Amino acid sequence: MALYLAVANRKGGVGKSTVSVMLAHSLSIWGGKRVLVVDIDSQCNASIILLGGRGWREARDKRKTISDYFVDCFKTPHTAAEPYLVREAGDVVGASGRRPVLDILPGSLLIDEVQGDLFLDLASGHQGKNLIIDLSRRLGQLLRRWDGAYDVVIMDCAPGLSFVTHAAIATADRVIVPFRPDYVSLMAIDRISLVAEGASNLDELAQIPFSRRRYMCLPNFVRGRGAERLLIEEVGLTHPMAEMQLAHRDGIANAFEWSADTRTIDAKYGDGVADLRRLYDEVSSMLVNGNAPPRIYAHDTHTALSA
Ligand SMILES: Nc1ncnc2c1ncn2[C@@H]1O[C@H](COP(=O)(O)OP(=O)(O)OP(=O)(O)O)[C@@H](O)[C@H]1O
Ligand SMILES: [Mg+2]
Repeated sequence: MALYLAVANRKGGVGKSTVSVMLAHSLSIWGGKRVLVVDIDSQCNASIILLGGRGWREARDKRKTISDYFVDCFKTPHTAAEPYLVREAGDVVGASGRRPVLDILPGSLLIDEVQGDLFLDLASGHQGKNLIIDLSRRLGQLLRRWDGAYDVVIMDCAPGLSFVTHAAIATADRVIVPFRPDYVSLMAIDRISLVAEGASNLDELAQIPFSRRRYMCLPNFVRGRGAERLLIEEVGLTHPMAEMQLAHRDGIANAFEWSADTRTIDAKYGDGVADLRRLYDEVSSMLVNGNAPPRIYAHDTHTALSA
């Protein structure tokens, strides 16, 4: 059974793609895990970071993207998933020069339009009122087809809450919510937490103990100022918080720098390696514990999707 992680926040620019890529590199290199990244965002940042611009365009020309995967699977049930993946992604190798098992289902510029088309197709033959739930459920099933082939599947979500992002959050074992410790970010966290837990409001959310929640907030861009500390503490009263925080560092920004020449993880992340190690340790413990709280699809999706 793979561990499915969604990295999500409806707010843009908080570090979702950066954290996705950092986890992919560290879990595959340091942890020796077989890792798949699923790029759900039409900006395709994770794909461009892990394949380079040229590699991503080649994948797109060969119809190896999440849009092609969804369209073909909706048209022809039981379509095999593997042909849509690109193997050996990333520009980082182990100390011995060994490439990790790090594959990607590349993103597509058209994923937003494709979701709309799938919705309309489904609507045309649909009887009941649960159309949105049915679509999200089907997308969720297609996002969870990698057991056996991978140990960890990392879904880099788009900002906002599209059907596919809903499906990724609802279907994931764990949801990591990077956020910037400033006041405008607070509302976005509240909203994503409701979706992750299928709660309709914060009072309902408060009934769920932290230990039963699937999501975890991760402060990013931390500069160590007092105001930030207070804000992180305030968020931590309402939401489960990671033990570690990611500092604002050039080395972490390097996650975005694709290089055609492979390098070690230390060379790539420079002054961000210690942050990466702490992130890796914390997320690795989710793999060991294996007792993730139940997913939304285990009970009711309705509240999650209409929240
Ligand atoms: N801890 C950090 N220190 C320095 N730069 C960072 C850090 N985290 C992210 N960045 C930089 O901030 C920018 C936004 O990060 P990123 O693209 O990962 O956010 P995102 O949430 O995925 O954005 P979007 O919502 O557009 O998908 C990038 O240029 C990235 O390199
Ligand atoms: Mg992103």
